Amino acid sequence: MSAAAPKPKQNQGEPAPRYDARLKVTGEARYASDMPVNNPAFAFLVTSPIARGTITSIDLNAAKAVPGVLDIFTHENTGDLKEVKFGSSGGGATTSIQDLGPKIQHDGQIVAMVVADTFEAAREAAYKVKIGYDAEAPSASFEAPGTSESTVKKKLPNAGDADKAFEDAEVKLDVAYSTPTEHHNAIELFTTTAAWDNDELTVYEPSQFMYGAKNTIAAKLGIKPDKVHVASHFVGGAFGSKAQLTPRTGLVALAAKKLNRPVKLVATRDQGFTIATYRAETRHVIKIGAARDGKIASFHHHGWEVTSRPDDYSVAGVEDSARLYGFGTVKTGVTLIHADRNTPGFMRSPPVVPYIYALESAMDELAVKLNMDPVELRRVNDATKDATGKEWTSRSLMRCYDEAATAFGWSKRTPQPGSMRDGDWLIGWGCASAVYPTHIGAATARVRLSSDGRARVQLAAHEIGTGIMTVAAQMAAERLGVPLDQVQVEVGDSRLPPVPVAGGSNQTASCCSVVMKACDALMAKLNAAGGENAAANAGNSLEGKFARLGVETLEEYAEFVPPAAEPNAVTGLFTNPIKKLYEGVPTLVGGSTGKKLMYAYGAEFIEVRVHALTREIRVPRAVGAFAAGRIMNTRTAHSQYMGAMIWGIGSALHEASEIDPRNARYVNDNLADYLVPVNADIQQLDIILVPEEDHEVNPAGVKGIGELGNVGTAAAVANAVYHATGIRVRELPIRAEKLLTA
Ligand code: MOS
Repeated sequence: MSAAAPKPKQNQGEPAPRYDARLKVTGEARYASDMPVNNPAFAFLVTSPIARGTITSIDLNAAKAVPGVLDIFTHENTGDLKEVKFGSSGGGATTSIQDLGPKIQHDGQIVAMVVADTFEAAREAAYKVKIGYDAEAPSASFEAPGTSESTVKKKLPNAGDADKAFEDAEVKLDVAYSTPTEHHNAIELFTTTAAWDNDELTVYEPSQFMYGAKNTIAAKLGIKPDKVHVASHFVGGAFGSKAQLTPRTGLVALAAKKLNRPVKLVATRDQGFTIATYRAETRHVIKIGAARDGKIASFHHHGWEVTSRPDDYSVAGVEDSARLYGFGTVKTGVTLIHADRNTPGFMRSPPVVPYIYALESAMDELAVKLNMDPVELRRVNDATKDATGKEWTSRSLMRCYDEAATAFGWSKRTPQPGSMRDGDWLIGWGCASAVYPTHIGAATARVRLSSDGRARVQLAAHEIGTGIMTVAAQMAAERLGVPLDQVQVEVGDSRLPPVPVAGGSNQTASCCSVVMKACDALMAKLNAAGGENAAANAGNSLEGKFARLGVETLEEYAEFVPPAAEPNAVTGLFTNPIKKLYEGVPTLVGGSTGKKLMYAYGAEFIEVRVHALTREIRVPRAVGAFAAGRIMNTRTAHSQYMGAMIWGIGSALHEASEIDPRNARYVNDNLADYLVPVNADIQQLDIILVPEEDHEVNPAGVKGIGELGNVGTAAAVANAVYHATGIRVRELPIRAEKLLTA
């Protein structure tokens, strides 16, 4: 037996129960707004009822007369707050629109914050704040007069002469799709608690990026980052909405400073629609030129995305759609439409959810044109290189299709729309690919092992519901050779060693890679204690090894930097990733960057039943098969995929933030009117974890699964609805009224 560290096991994830399960089901888990502070004051926001214009007057007399009101903050007394840079790729602020006026740039912009002794007093006073506006007609979205256009600046995929290849193709498809505005609507609201101890600030706020929050809060207040402590032990849903700083945080911190008293804010559900980010509405034109055998020679994908006036936020998912299959030539572009809206932001699978919905709907339309089985069309266009000649580290797309198709019983499908009727119900079967870029970032961790076999892992990771504590513990237990229940994990605090933003599904890969590195370094020291006989002694007891070393505990701090993060592999931003990580700069690389493409894949199959008369749409059955490298924990992975596919079904049939074009305001900003799936909407849902080994993506072999599962679901539902009814709905969501025929 060798003392050298063994290669990491792949696909060996134990279905260990979650570390935080007991805390969560017993209500013991403390979310940010549960954190106790001494004698807090309570804040309530006032938001703008207009989307564009100027504040002309502020009358606070009635509000200040409410008993218990301590202070009211408006643009007139918050000038000390600094402008923080908008972070277009994570880190920084969610938006450049940070001031409380006088300029109003979107509906629901924060214009005042009341602070009082009680929540009720703050709320009552907030309703009594009188603000006068000079309102202008806003541009709400696509097609509104007065919007402006810009082009996405980053280099997008283009290869070969896609125009000529389209011209020459035997079969041509030219189609347009659209997706609506969506809001994350995490169960946990947007909350902030700020408490000062002299010049040191503590902030409790749900966060997907502890070091981003710490550094950006410092910049907002004009203080040193080492004066800011952020804690976020549990996050009650985030999905991208809690990855960057929103304007509320600086305001609450400023109020706490001025009042010399902790201040607590819990924004309301409807305020959450406008004080944070959202998934912007998109439009797509896809052109595909193919041979009669299905081989695609030309792929065009142009996207249009809505953003705010000042910020160039885009998801630009053509980077991923152009690489899903072995297209002969590709031509892509993305246009931004600047409207009178807040800046959109990351929302679960930001680039791929809208763009792969469009591509995977188009693939189904092409299959119909070719009179070809949709799975076979994917097989014909499966590839070992993308159109630019890059290879993948691993690619199990067709294995996913084969496993899911078998489980679903796809071979029994009859292709003719409406041909699988059961009484009054029209049955439709559809499928689509899921794909997500594998991201990886520089990360750090500290691991301690004691001679009695107890271990502690510390890293500023984010328990956003994904189970990071559990998988970090599993990796440590495996590498240190101790039982899982002996490993304690600390996360969610900016005093712990930094890890990247919990976004882009990188967290498990980055954190497990660095935990593995720290553990291996620790074990190397421990095993070396045997001197020349280290190898022979490696089987000795832990106590024996510690005794030889003459210590009770060993601690190791490790920094993991992915190879693709080297200066010339990506942009100049990453010249010193570790320093940047400490400064709150997101350090993610991967996906389409680097020498090889890194992607996780899946295949989703959906059965819909559409009532022939009422057009009610049901989803009785769904099967998803996914391959994403090593699965750290089959139980938490299964849960992630289930949640994601349910979300995907919701985005296909239910979800949309409806915006009134006359005033650019959301009209369904509550969980009664914003439709999401409930238990009765979801029946049979089967998840298949397809084994995949990948020793190139990162040391842990983990690809990341948090965002893979809700990619492709909407297209699979749309394709199933077509198969049931013969009606191709190209605008999400698909609701009964879109299936009514004359
Ligand atoms: Mo995710 S939308 O990258 O938090």
